[in-house]
Amino acid sequence: MLLKSALLAATVVAADTLVPADLDVNNTASIVAIAKTLASGAMSYYNGTATTYSPLPSPYYWWEAGALMGAMLDYSYLTNDTTYDAIITAAIANNTGPANDFLVPVQYLDEGNDDQAFWAFTALTAAEHKFPQAAGAPSWLDISINAWNNMVARWNTTMCAGGFTWQIYSYNYNGLNYKNSASNGGVFLISARLALLTGNSTYIDWAEKVWNWSDGVGIIDKHYNVFDGTDSATNCTKINPLSFTYQNGIYLYGAAALAKQTGDDVWAKRAESLLGAASRFFSPFDNATDIMWEHACEGVGTCTKDMKTFKGFLSRFMYAAVDVLPSLAPNVTDYMRTSAIAAGKACSGLKGITCGQKWYVGGFDGSVGLGQEMCALETIQGLLTLNKVLAAANPPPPATTTTPAPSPSPSPTKNTGAAGLAPQDLRLTGLSIACALLIWGNLLA
Ligand SMILES: *[C@@H]1O[C@H](CO)[C@@H](O)[C@H](O)[C@H]1NC(C)=O
Ligand SMILES: *[C@@H]1O[C@H](CO)[C@@H](O)[C@H](O)[C@H]1NC(C)=O
Ligand SMILES: *[C@@H]1O[C@H](CO)[C@@H](O)[C@H](O)[C@H]1NC(C)=O
Ligand SMILES: *[C@@H]1O[C@H](CO)[C@@H](O)[C@H](O)[C@H]1NC(C)=O
Ligand SMILES: *[C@@H]1O[C@H](CO)[C@@H](O)[C@H](O)[C@H]1NC(C)=O
Ligand SMILES: *[C@@H]1O[C@H](CO)[C@@H](O)[C@H](O)[C@H]1NC(C)=O
Ligand SMILES: *[C@@H]1O[C@H](CO)[C@@H](O)[C@H](O)[C@H]1NC(C)=O
Ligand SMILES: *[C@@H]1O[C@H](CO)[C@@H](O)[C@H](O)[C@H]1NC(C)=O
Ligand SMILES: *[C@@H]1O[C@H](CO)[C@@H](O)[C@H](O)[C@H]1NC(C)=O
Ligand SMILES: *[C@@H]1O[C@H](CO)[C@@H](O)[C@H](O)[C@H]1NC(C)=O
Repeated sequence: MLLKSALLAATVVAADTLVPADLDVNNTASIVAIAKTLASGAMSYYNGTATTYSPLPSPYYWWEAGALMGAMLDYSYLTNDTTYDAIITAAIANNTGPANDFLVPVQYLDEGNDDQAFWAFTALTAAEHKFPQAAGAPSWLDISINAWNNMVARWNTTMCAGGFTWQIYSYNYNGLNYKNSASNGGVFLISARLALLTGNSTYIDWAEKVWNWSDGVGIIDKHYNVFDGTDSATNCTKINPLSFTYQNGIYLYGAAALAKQTGDDVWAKRAESLLGAASRFFSPFDNATDIMWEHACEGVGTCTKDMKTFKGFLSRFMYAAVDVLPSLAPNVTDYMRTSAIAAGKACSGLKGITCGQKWYVGGFDGSVGLGQEMCALETIQGLLTLNKVLAAANPPPPATTTTPAPSPSPSPTKNTGAAGLAPQDLRLTGLSIACALLIWGNLLA
């Protein structure tokens, strides 16, 4: 007993002084302590309070505030640290718009379907985590359903036999022909999560319709690569071959949620295939096996502020996919443990805690920003989900209540089976191509 308390005390002390580079992916206290540091780093970009929403400073777009609040909802849920709850609630409540569907008049100049989707993801997370309701507002689930209803009404069959365009409003004319994976995948994922939350088959039907369309036009190819989008000016016969981490994550999580809801092996196979295709986002060099990178822009140094957030969403949605479809866990484990450790090392800038962008360089690369903080936060805190799923798949042997006969000498080979050790450790310690890219960068994701 004494020994155990002393060990636990040591763990706590160590956790207090931990910097992200010290992350122990198998230790709950370590993950929680580092997530706390990273959450604080991310929220240092946000000036809102428990009563007042404050837009992110330029050049961060409106959607990113929604994404930040989604990451912070996970933070609260996974760590039980409620420090930011009231601030998160005030931010979401301020942005639901007059119809409580995330169409916000003051954001019309830069609100596209994908932006609305990101805020809806956040409301869905609040519903899934049973996050306390905002006073006087509809339920998180009803807000999510309102957003879904508003979005599906824009299914556009003029060209391409369907699909959602990127933009909503005529002054964003650049994006009125472009049918992108973030918007279509966005509605796919919202539909899938609503199906899981409500059991209502209308959402399954819509998810399948958007999947069929995405697959049909080829923004998801036969190898399950997800591409940025296609253009109704060509009747969606030409694909923009850019491909970003989060686009895979959006479809991956949706397919996994549908696998759980329907029990249909077709969806499980799609989720597995998307996870397989995500391999292009890992292992950029021989010295960086299993480390995540934004392959369309990191190597050539052209990532925009938006793009610097994307890795975090692949992480977030991979973990969420594992949570609903545990059979994905082993393959996600290799990627995410290694990427989380690399992300931790990248967060060794100012004061030893500021995050950089590229995780494959083995340290801090000098590129700072909100997206960098969010990516590391989401990648590291989600280990708590992964470890929970792994532990549940591999439960520790039941504790014995009877006093065992004293053994003459402890056997050093006891309990060293890998299957037995892991859970015990856990328990003890715890968008034309160039043009679209330009538009993407200039207007927003
Ligand atoms: C937050 O407010 C302070 C004081 O008004 C200002 O100096 C700072 O730039 C603001 N930060 C953000 C992230 O808006
Ligand atoms: C947070 O609270 C839940 C419910 O009490 C518990 O299951 C979970 O282990 C806690 N998480 C942490 C990191 O303490
Ligand atoms: C949202 O917050 C802004 C800035 O604080 C404020 O001007 C606006 O009135 C708020 N809107 C709603 C609907 O709360
Ligand atoms: C549907 O897409 C076409 C381009 O294919 C566009 O001209 C039209 O405005 C869109 N319709 C609606 C209702 O957005
Ligand atoms: C556009 O493609 C769809 C199939 O995706 C086809 O049904 C339709 O006839 C095509 N329209 C034009 C104008 O080529
Ligand atoms: C299922 O969802 C659809 C779309 O939101 C809604 O129109 C319908 O009333 C729902 N059905 C039930 C039984 O709740
Ligand atoms: C999707 O495609 C499958 C296979 O072609 C078909 O069976 C199914 O009816 C389609 N679903 C929807 C909702 O269009
Ligand atoms: C895991 O990855 C292996 C190797 O790429 C693949 O064969 C297998 O199907 C994957 N399993 C799951 C459940 O995704
Ligand atoms: C791995 O190799 C790449 C490409 O040469 C380089 O940029 C990166 O800094 C290297 N990473 C480490 C940890 O040495
Ligand atoms: C985490 O635990 C697993 C299972 O015990 C082990 O295989 C892995 O090497 C550990 N990882 C680290 C970085 O300690």
